[in-house]
Amino acid sequence: MERPCHPLIPLVGDGATVPCVDGEERPYLSCDAAASTAAFPSVVERVTDMMPWYSSVHRGAGYRSQRTTDAYEHAREAALHFAGRDASDDVAIICRNTTEAINHLAYRLGLAPGDVVVTTVVEHHANLLPWSRSARCRFVECAADGTFGVPDVVEALDEGRHPRLLAVTGASNITGWMPPIDEIIAEAHARGIPVAVDAAQLAPHRRLPVAADFVAWSGHKMYAPFGAGVLVGPRETFRHGDPFLAGGGAVDLVDLDEVVWTEPPDREEAGSPNVAGAVALHAAIDEVEAAGWPAIVEHDRLLARRLRDGLARIPGVRLLGPALSTETLPVAAFTLEGVPHALAAARLSAEHGIGVRHGCFCAHPYLMRLLGLGHAEVREYRNQVRHGDRSRMPGAVRASLGINAGDADVERLCVAVASIASGEPAPIAYLQDPRTGDYSPDPAAAPWLRVGRPHGSSCSPG
Ligand SMILES: Cc1ncc(COP(=O)(O)O)c(C=O)c1O
Repeated sequence: MERPCHPLIPLVGDGATVPCVDGEERPYLSCDAAASTAAFPSVVERVTDMMPWYSSVHRGAGYRSQRTTDAYEHAREAALHFAGRDASDDVAIICRNTTEAINHLAYRLGLAPGDVVVTTVVEHHANLLPWSRSARCRFVECAADGTFGVPDVVEALDEGRHPRLLAVTGASNITGWMPPIDEIIAEAHARGIPVAVDAAQLAPHRRLPVAADFVAWSGHKMYAPFGAGVLVGPRETFRHGDPFLAGGGAVDLVDLDEVVWTEPPDREEAGSPNVAGAVALHAAIDEVEAAGWPAIVEHDRLLARRLRDGLARIPGVRLLGPALSTETLPVAAFTLEGVPHALAAARLSAEHGIGVRHGCFCAHPYLMRLLGLGHAEVREYRNQVRHGDRSRMPGAVRASLGINAGDADVERLCVAVASIASGEPAPIAYLQDPRTGDYSPDPAAAPWLRVGRPHGSSCSPG
């Protein structure tokens, strides 16, 4: 018998109850950590404590401006340190999130349409679209289990024109699978190819890959939901050329026909920065570092195994992704025989007080492969979507857990999923909105539904 898995650190809002269609209130169970996490209490405290001192950053002579600037710059140092770097060679650019960070990088690399970026079919759209619109992408394919090996990456790196970059995820947001990132980076570097790692999923769960040239991640997925993310990369990359954003704070001199951009990182952060977000991110980094990677990884491993084993054992549930013996993050995507993914998600929420995500998880190419859909099926649903009908959009349900979860949460989720998978009829009617594909309880049975909710939470678009 394995050790029990207990919650490691509580989060703000744990235990808060939500209404269900049987008239009961239940403690909300968030199984959606891969989308966004609740905050660490210490994050909220740190932001609240700094508010009386809040003022302009980098621009004010007053005491409060100096304190705010200090807090902001300390957050930058903490982010660099968290990524295993220091300020001599690298910079941490504070931005909104991973999406912005990768778009920022794609712009700053000055890619030409003929340039090749190697990336993979496992990526979130945030690590696909910025590359495909500015360069020619060469893709590493995955096997039916959603994984690829180092030789697959090597083949893509070596095939044809020398790539400008390898852009790869640190962990999948659908299966929680972690590509062997250190080996992949070593192979790219042996060929003189820099590597950008999308660490949106990895950051709250594992140490960031120190050898990567560029790393991007988001505060809101690591218990700091105040709107800051980070792009870390070599200072040299940002020393020349136009910044991604042009404006105040990014310049040394401006005349009507001339601009002298300042040094990075300020050069990359035009406009007033998100100080509260940076302070929140810093507090989250401190909390993660205080807990320590060994404890976090141990908790994650137990949780991931319980979650995936528990779901895989339920009759009618098909777990997507690698074999149960493969180490993953505590993220599990699954389908239920005979139950549309959108309906399963709606029932978990309305009848059980459990929040999951469903749909395609902003990684359409990967999900289509995991579901094993052929070209004809993909063409058919794309046609329907183009005509505004998402009611038959293929997809899955995703349950993802964080640092505040333990065995009891997995058990509660599995009991709820098993009851839906068993064919137990829903106690109320659910209505589907074809425009979103989402189901919601008949408002007569759920008077607590907000005005506007009948249009659904639009889980299917990606
Ligand atoms: C692997 C991965 N990359 C990128 C992103 C985009 O992150 P954000 O929405 O914070 O920009 C996500 C979000 O789910 C993700 O899971």
